[in-house]
Amino acid sequence: MDYQKRFYKYNSNYINVPLLLPFLLCILMGNNNNINNPWSFGLAASLSNNNNTNSSNVLSRTIFSFGDSLLDAGNNHFNKNCSSQADFPPYGSTFFHRPTGRFTNGRTVVDFISEYIGIDLQKPFLEAQMAVSNGTWKAYPSNGINFASAGSGVLGDTGSIFKPEVFIQTMLTEVGKLVEQLYKHGARRIGLLSLGPVGCVPARVLIGGPTKKCYGKMNKMVKDYNKGFKNVSEACCGEGVLRGEVQCGREGYKICEKPEEYLFWDYFHPTEHAYKIISKALWTGSTLRIRPVNIKTLAYMTL
Ligand SMILES: *[C@@H]1O[C@H](CO)[C@@H](O)[C@H](O)[C@H]1NC(C)=O
Ligand SMILES: *[C@@H]1O[C@H](CO)[C@@H](O)[C@H](O)[C@H]1NC(C)=O
Ligand SMILES: *[C@@H]1O[C@H](CO)[C@@H](O)[C@H](O)[C@H]1NC(C)=O
Ligand SMILES: *[C@@H]1O[C@H](CO)[C@@H](O)[C@H](O)[C@H]1NC(C)=O
Ligand SMILES: *[C@@H]1O[C@H](CO)[C@@H](O)[C@H](O)[C@H]1NC(C)=O
Repeated sequence: MDYQKRFYKYNSNYINVPLLLPFLLCILMGNNNNINNPWSFGLAASLSNNNNTNSSNVLSRTIFSFGDSLLDAGNNHFNKNCSSQADFPPYGSTFFHRPTGRFTNGRTVVDFISEYIGIDLQKPFLEAQMAVSNGTWKAYPSNGINFASAGSGVLGDTGSIFKPEVFIQTMLTEVGKLVEQLYKHGARRIGLLSLGPVGCVPARVLIGGPTKKCYGKMNKMVKDYNKGFKNVSEACCGEGVLRGEVQCGREGYKICEKPEEYLFWDYFHPTEHAYKIISKALWTGSTLRIRPVNIKTLAYMTL
């Protein structure tokens, strides 16, 4: 399969819509945005193997993920033009014991889902592309590819020129088009992650948001997240008010002793522990939250 051609083909259709798919821009051309604010948008698609003669209860074993820093497995590390980076300590310290470019202390949601399925974690597209083109790898890996890349976002220039309703509608339309493109390229089991409580991230202090509550009407969401976490307001790693003013790992940062007690790892991103809880809910959660089916059902679905 020529992932690279496909990737560029469908990105070229979107490249003029920087509003919607900024993460693709970061992969292709880099960006100058200094804030790694997540879009909390993610999408994972799996290509079915059409050559399969026995399709009953065949577990999907390939994941292609698209999204922002919430799913980025290290693409930005391979694009130095991208200023949003997490390829330095103490990122990755809890699970990988080294920075991988993931914007958390360990695994992301796609990593956990891959573990539940029983496949290796997907490599970043830019790493695979280099390894294939320099001959280190003979082909792209069969377990899929991670295309997610931390990019610019809602708090930057691109978001502010639109009214929220217009912004959301435009975004939904474009996400719909992306899903159609993926379907045309053979993706059959497609999962879309909805928006997280972006107004609650510690980095809200950077844009003058309130410190004692979330930005906007998002307190209820925080209460939902509250279960099991001792600290849902401040980042484990960072500095300043809410530890939301300085990125984790940058000069002067502080780090908590027990990241597993925190909802937020850094100024924008959840801890591995939070991702684990989210992943379990995505994998086996009830239709109250995961619709129309959970990812486990999707992964085993007969097509
Ligand atoms: C980074 O930017 C330079 C100069 O604009 C460009 O030549 C190079 O291709 C870019 N690299 C990537 C990986 O986008
Ligand atoms: C389909 O399976 C056959 C036999 O296993 C193999 O030779 C062929 O390359 C496969 N085709 C694709 C597109 O995977
Ligand atoms: C298809 O898979 C099922 C379940 O694993 C197995 O019982 C069956 O023998 C398989 N059929 C063929 C034709 O391989
Ligand atoms: C080839 O690319 C891979 C992945 O980026 C890298 O780890 C490796 O060092 C490269 N090898 C050579 C010989 O450039
Ligand atoms: C949350 O964590 C921060 C940073 O470690 C700490 O200063 C603060 O007291 C904690 N708050 C609660 C409610 O535990």
